[in-house]
Amino acid sequence: MILVFGSVNLDLVTRVSSIPRPGETVLSPSYTTTFGGKGANQAVAAARVSAAGGVCLVARVGTDAFGASARANLHDNGVGIDHLGVGPEPTGCAFITVDERGENAITVASGANLALKGAAVPADLIDGGTVLVLQMEVPFGESLSVAQRVRDAGGRVIWNFAPVPAAFRREDLSDLLAATDFLVVNEHEAVAAAAVLGFEGLAFEHAAERLARAGNLTCVATAGADGATMIDFNGQRAHFPASRVVPIDTTGAGDTFVGILAAGLVEDGDLATAVSRAVKGASLSCLLVGAQPGMPYRHQLDR
Ligand code: RIB
Repeated sequence: MILVFGSVNLDLVTRVSSIPRPGETVLSPSYTTTFGGKGANQAVAAARVSAAGGVCLVARVGTDAFGASARANLHDNGVGIDHLGVGPEPTGCAFITVDERGENAITVASGANLALKGAAVPADLIDGGTVLVLQMEVPFGESLSVAQRVRDAGGRVIWNFAPVPAAFRREDLSDLLAATDFLVVNEHEAVAAAAVLGFEGLAFEHAAERLARAGNLTCVATAGADGATMIDFNGQRAHFPASRVVPIDTTGAGDTFVGILAAGLVEDGDLATAVSRAVKGASLSCLLVGAQPGMPYRHQLDR
């Protein structure tokens, strides 16, 4: 089963001609409210392409209306929410600005996500068949403790190093890599993570290779319209081109990628097939506004 440990947010999305610079104000005619949070997005992406009942999200929301609607949305998408906790903090909220090219800038008010504990994951969700999916929007130490439990049980860990923390210690990144089987990074994240290890200024794919070698893991590096490259701990590479699309909104494309990758690993275990489907799904997800609306269902991905 796929176990996602991570964030839940409500996304307030505004479209602008260009993303404001510091000190600048831009006007937008309106905004839309969509469901988000990297953890929730990855769980929904996995559930839409998986057999029913195969995805469980352990996360935390507030008692507010945002939390109630996020819960209902996860349930409607077939995500298991038995371990979606509720606390006095506000539900996470993301303020997203999308420009004419579909690029975005995001500010996350973390709220309840910061109170999520690894202890919220019960032992019966973890065994040798577990594929754990992690990101960087809940406390790192809690994610690490869940990763180590899954690895001890013989399960596998996909860690999406997103968003890159403002400050991250080298020892913490070493622990993260040691507890990870598949590290998923975009260009910016790969370069930033390699710099934490002391490898400054590397080109994207060299940075990804450093991470793979340092962690003795497989690094899956996503590059938007250029697709994705998979690099193993020996430096062996395979490239997967993206489908050609004219993006409306790239928000959540990385989350779609991670969710479909996890589903593929659980389903038939062939990594190349899983990455290839994840690249296709991520492209499709850019055709609608918001992180989750464009995430494909299984029949759309197959087609
Ligand atoms: O990856 C996209 C997500 O990042 C958004 O849904 C937003 O909630 C932020 O967490």
